[in-house]
Amino acid sequence: METSSEVVLTGCDALADDVRRGLQRSPKRLQPRYLYDALGSRLFEAICELPEYPITRAELNLLAAHSVAISAGVASPLTLVELGGGNGEKLALLVVALVDAGVDLRVELVDVSATALELATRKLARFPQVSVAGHQATYEDGLRRIARQRAAEGRAGGMMVAFLGSNIGNLEPSAARLFLVSIRAALRIDDRIVLGTDLVKPESELVAAYDDPLGVTAAFNKNLLVRLNRELGANFTLDGFAHRAVWNAAESRVEMHLESLRTQRVSIPGSGCEVAFAAGESIWTESSYKYERAGLVAWGTDLGLARHDQWVDEEAGFAVTAFDAVGFRPGSSPS
Ligand SMILES: C[S@@+](CC[C@H](N)C(=O)[O-])C[C@H]1O[C@@H](n2cnc3c(N)ncnc32)[C@H](O)[C@@H]1O
Repeated sequence: METSSEVVLTGCDALADDVRRGLQRSPKRLQPRYLYDALGSRLFEAICELPEYPITRAELNLLAAHSVAISAGVASPLTLVELGGGNGEKLALLVVALVDAGVDLRVELVDVSATALELATRKLARFPQVSVAGHQATYEDGLRRIARQRAAEGRAGGMMVAFLGSNIGNLEPSAARLFLVSIRAALRIDDRIVLGTDLVKPESELVAAYDDPLGVTAAFNKNLLVRLNRELGANFTLDGFAHRAVWNAAESRVEMHLESLRTQRVSIPGSGCEVAFAAGESIWTESSYKYERAGLVAWGTDLGLARHDQWVDEEAGFAVTAFDAVGFRPGSSPS
């Protein structure tokens, strides 16, 4: 197996600026991608094992059962891209189906987390015939780079972009739509997108999935403060903040917050700022939007994507939808 990796993040500087800007906003906000340092990526793996978080198991089952149908008809050679793939376990299921079908495969992994890239690269090492490249980058930067390389090399064949785990749910709907437009713009006709999305379900199940009794998700959320202390020299006290998960039905999203338990000031030297918190004020660290299955298909169709097929785990409330790139409709072309 050939492997390579490159870092296209600006690293600590982006974190420092984003933290300063995000904590000056009202409400205070930090981007969810900062949850995934080395420990955050491991804690997310632990979340996937929790009984209250069934969506990883549901998506793995859907991919295991339908990987042949999901990848049916793709061109060979194929560039298989996964955006924010974590440990690569799900991608490996698609790789098995493609390798078995004799597709000449090249895998491009995009993830902000070096730990995730390492885990996924290790997971794919069992396919010696597949070349794997890792890009430590945001979704947008990684995808742009891969599309540019594909064009510059005049690479023949198809592309399939996997955006699984309901990662798209971490984007605001307007940003998610724009991002789908940019994925579509990176594709050629007949290329494919495979989208994993969590669906709307009863509030008690949604909240439990983000606030488990063992406190693993709380640790995942609070680890962001540990990261800011380590990387920016901040002085957050962990017992001064509490993990909160709330279902916002009007916006169809679960919000994760870190709520200040008292009036306090926190110094963040790496961001050159000091931040005041009122008791009860929170830092909004993640949104996870939940979708309706029919809405997803309509959304894709509107962006120049034709539904290839959709598979749903009704019990867990999770959908995998595959789209093929077709022509843009007037008015939906990215500009
Ligand atoms: C919720 S985990 C899901 C992992 C995997 N897709 C799954 O279904 O198990 C999100 C993954 O995306 C990565 N990630 C989060 N935000 C990102 C961003 N803006 N750009 C690139 N990667 C991101 C994280 O490091 C993590 O590996």
